[in-house]
Amino acid sequence: MSRENVTHARWSSRFTYVLAATGAAVGLGNIWKFPYIMGENGGGAFVLVYLFCIFFIGIPVMMSEVVIGKFGRQAPAKSAKLLAEASGSSPRWAVVGWFGVLTGFLILSFYIVIAGWALAYTFYGFTGVFDGRSASDFNTLFSDLNASAPQAMGWSFALLAITILVVGKGVRHGLERAVNWMMPALFVLLVVMVLYAANRGDFGAAVSFMFNADFSALSWSGVLVALGHSFFTLSLASGIMTMYGAYLPDNTSLVKTSVWIAVMDTVVAMLAGLAIYPIVFANGLEPGAGPGLIFLTLPIAFGTMPLGQLFGGLFFLMLVVAAFTSALALIESSVAWLVERRGFTRMGAAMTAGTGIGLLSLLTIFSQSGASWTQFQWGESSFHLFDAIDYLTSNLMLPIGGFITALFTGYFVDKAIAHRMIDTHPVIFRIWRVSVRYVAPVAITLVFLQLSGLMTL
Ligand code: PHE
Ligand code: NA
Repeated sequence: MSRENVTHARWSSRFTYVLAATGAAVGLGNIWKFPYIMGENGGGAFVLVYLFCIFFIGIPVMMSEVVIGKFGRQAPAKSAKLLAEASGSSPRWAVVGWFGVLTGFLILSFYIVIAGWALAYTFYGFTGVFDGRSASDFNTLFSDLNASAPQAMGWSFALLAITILVVGKGVRHGLERAVNWMMPALFVLLVVMVLYAANRGDFGAAVSFMFNADFSALSWSGVLVALGHSFFTLSLASGIMTMYGAYLPDNTSLVKTSVWIAVMDTVVAMLAGLAIYPIVFANGLEPGAGPGLIFLTLPIAFGTMPLGQLFGGLFFLMLVVAAFTSALALIESSVAWLVERRGFTRMGAAMTAGTGIGLLSLLTIFSQSGASWTQFQWGESSFHLFDAIDYLTSNLMLPIGGFITALFTGYFVDKAIAHRMIDTHPVIFRIWRVSVRYVAPVAITLVFLQLSGLMTL
């Protein structure tokens, strides 16, 4: 592969970059996962630990990824290779790049299916399908949606098609235009949902569930949950931040923008909790229902609440927007790679990568519809391919990717080059370096051991 380097577009401003990267970071993790793990692990006490993890591990690793992209200005593998070579290290460090792109590709194959459920539910919400249904009705509604593979394909492929069209138009005409109105729309929807929840739900119960600082409820495993989530929520190790960093405008502070992205992601997560939990508590729903909370229990409340038809639809629309802006980011590095290394046009690349994602998403779709070829036994329990891809990416590939990124930039990238890329006060640079050399690798190893079940606390 000896193609010349390609000049990619740049974000038109640092604000747009922050919007796009925040869009990439904000997703289902913010909306159903964070508020719940926060409530379960000691509320305010957990938030302190979480913020520590975000600032001292998540943000430094995000900066490492952006350093790679900003230096190379190419798709992740090539950028990592260029940076390694300039540092006198082995070009094999390109692995840091392509491993992320591969992870992102796999994640998108099931993310697009979940986004498809949200799209279906947006439609159900606005058309009154939630009205007066019981818990078991929702079990049926959700399993019917999944039982028919063509129906599930219809919803996710519709979103995939829009993703292809937007990404195919390029960075400025596609990605930027989309995030420029979708991110403000997402914030407005979120605030509207919080106001509705404050009016119609049990706001006090939600606030005390989420924020009551209870240090006795915070265990070591809670600390690892915070650490793992800080990684997942910032969309690290999936090729995203390296790719978006490759489009960074000149003279953009890598430190400030990374902090902004992390802060906005956290604010969205907390607002999401304040939108959901008042409704959960006011309707006597089970707060810890996991992903099922969104698709099985929360709609019960919308089906009985005043204006529930409108707000139920809006809630799922918000979810679609959150997932869609992550989908754009997840496919971008594959598209850039096809353009750069294989000579595709943007639209051709988007259609090719999108077709690949569509085919791969069939593994998730048929797992959910119960096709026998997707189901297997592992020891005592039965799994399907969707479980396997989810486990492989979230619990193995994300931590491994983060670990090698930290090692690469901490030990194998020339210190002067890193400092030039990060371009900040020496003290801040030192903190970054200590984090990626020592803190992040140790922390990620602990999370990895716990997630992969090799260590239990
Ligand atoms: N950050 C996303 C969320 O919080 C999840 C994600 C991880 C998306 C990795 C893309 C890549 O939901
Ligand atoms: Na997130």
